[in-house]
Amino acid sequence: MKRIVLFASGSGSNVENIVKYFAGHSDISISCVLTNKRDAYVIDRCNKLGVPAFYFNKAGFTNSPLVLEILKCIQPDLIVLAGFLLKIPSDLVAAFPRKIINIHPALLPKYGGKGMYGKHVHTAVKAQGESETGITVHYVNEHYDEGAIIRQFKVGISKEDTVDQITAKVQSLEQIHFPKVIEEVLSGK
Ligand code: GRF
Repeated sequence: MKRIVLFASGSGSNVENIVKYFAGHSDISISCVLTNKRDAYVIDRCNKLGVPAFYFNKAGFTNSPLVLEILKCIQPDLIVLAGFLLKIPSDLVAAFPRKIINIHPALLPKYGGKGMYGKHVHTAVKAQGESETGITVHYVNEHYDEGAIIRQFKVGISKEDTVDQITAKVQSLEQIHFPKVIEEVLSGK
């Protein structure tokens, strides 16, 4: 069995979708979810889904090797950032080369970098009058949203679309494609 560890900071709609996609999978399983937000809704989802979830605070992540030690125990084949907002420390990146991937809710390299998450991204896309947006799944390096791109998927948007409508279109792409891209990465396709 190949093992996935999920990192999340927020609602966890991607976590739920990924957990359901791989439930009963013959080769891939979800080991656990790690979160830096004690009250994140992702924990409620994990409770309902019966998935182990662990909370760590920022000090336990950035100033200490503890999360790295936990990951070394689990030995995941892939670490998936699904709405995780902290920067990944360089020792963790170095310990898992090409084994950490992230989903970004825009077409990188546009609309990436520090502070570009959630509604901030979709608001910026709308302000620029873009005719399309999408999702980017990419490897994680020491810099926000700069690792090698694995796959991108696009969706058309119009000037009349509200930020909420753009958000919904992007979330729909995430639900359809993210688990499949994870599966492809793990199976080396
Ligand atoms: C998603 O839009 C994802 O692309 C981004 O953060 C959001 C997380 O949403 N990185 P959720 O917590 O999975 O509902």
